[in-house]
Amino acid sequence: MRRPDLASENENDISGTQANRPPRPSPTTIGNHKLKPSTLMMGYGFDPELSEGSLKPPIFLTSTFVFETAAAGKRFFEGVTGKRPGGAEGLIYSRFNGPNQEILEDRLSLWEEADDALAFSSGMSAIATLLLTFVRPGDVIVQSGPLYAATETLIAKILGQFGVSWLDFPSGATREEIDDVIARAKAKGRVALIYLESPANPTNQLVDVEAVRAARDAAFNDGERPPIAIDNTFLGPLWAKPLAHGADLSVYSLTKYAGGHSDLVAGGLVGNKKLIDQVRAMRNTIGTICDPNTAWMLLRSLETLELRMDKAGQNAARVCEFLRGHPKVEKVGYLGFLEEGSRQADIYRRHCSGAGSTFSLYLKGGEKEAFAFLDALQIAHLAVSLGGTETLASAPAAMTHLSVPDDRKAQLNITPNLVRISIGVEDADDLIADFNQALEAI
Ligand SMILES: Cc1ncc(COP(=O)(O)O)c(C=O)c1O
Repeated sequence: MRRPDLASENENDISGTQANRPPRPSPTTIGNHKLKPSTLMMGYGFDPELSEGSLKPPIFLTSTFVFETAAAGKRFFEGVTGKRPGGAEGLIYSRFNGPNQEILEDRLSLWEEADDALAFSSGMSAIATLLLTFVRPGDVIVQSGPLYAATETLIAKILGQFGVSWLDFPSGATREEIDDVIARAKAKGRVALIYLESPANPTNQLVDVEAVRAARDAAFNDGERPPIAIDNTFLGPLWAKPLAHGADLSVYSLTKYAGGHSDLVAGGLVGNKKLIDQVRAMRNTIGTICDPNTAWMLLRSLETLELRMDKAGQNAARVCEFLRGHPKVEKVGYLGFLEEGSRQADIYRRHCSGAGSTFSLYLKGGEKEAFAFLDALQIAHLAVSLGGTETLASAPAAMTHLSVPDDRKAQLNITPNLVRISIGVEDADDLIADFNQALEAI
């Protein structure tokens, strides 16, 4: 779609945008020098002169957009309904899109060098819209396991009611294991989608996206290849860029690192334009787009994304180093501590540029010790979620994963002594002092 600030370069165009001159395109290079996403987050995709000189994009609180002519309105609808290729040329109605969401989508694309992006009202609405786009009754979804609990529920319980089934391989699976699951899935029905999550919530296991891509390409002919989508919430968009390793679509809970201040809920999808266009048509129908205010808040958040993630990552490295040496700690499940020479370390080296700031802390003892630790924290907050400026800690077995059956919990190492921690941007020494006193309180 074209925003009001992205008017046609063709003066005779009937697209009917509000601007009376084309927008100045945002520079993405200086000579041969390519500008980085962290720089482009300040202004890319927005021309202040088309919004009264406002340095920042205004929030476009409107449910609908006025067409300059009836012919322009018809042309926009031809684009949005697919009667004419190329998509809508102008803004129509806020369930389809709006200026704030489009600027956000342009900027989201930059981090993974994606063709296109879509913004959603939550991570789960992004995932649900993606699944509804590609899955039909009788289809099979091949997935890595475990997935975020609500995603597992959506696929197994909700899509299951419509005759969709699934088969999974463990997150760290080898090429042979992936080949085997794809072959079994093909025998069951049409494979609609390969859906991954890396690192997996809550095990932190990484998926070998390159191996999944090779397995998919070997198993299916051109034209019948199911898209590979991956939940990149935990390390994206800074520390992992799965589109570069063979995924077609990368999905995000923007509620986490991208939003980054624990004050909004939103989702995103970036990737291949042909696939994104299909998901956009579904989003237009069911209305899972985020609202303009949330989009504006995300634009603000993206300006500091790299700063925040860098600092949180550095803090986590310091805190984890402290925790693993503490006598009351059994183990720290942190991507920076993968065993040299292991398969996980090999995937990490190929796919990740940082260990993140969310990890598992196994305390010596059980629920009593975990609760004593959590109740004693003074800086870290006792809350679920992750990727915010503030440090959060929770007990998955008693909270987020309470309803997971016991045998599955045991299989995933979600034990009563497990504490999940998401490190924020506070001072690292202060965090260490807090964790130290909480460990002493056990
Ligand atoms: C890995 C992962 N994916 C998706 C989601 C869902 O995102 P949201 O809460 O924004 O719907 C979450 C939420 O915790 C998550 O951790």
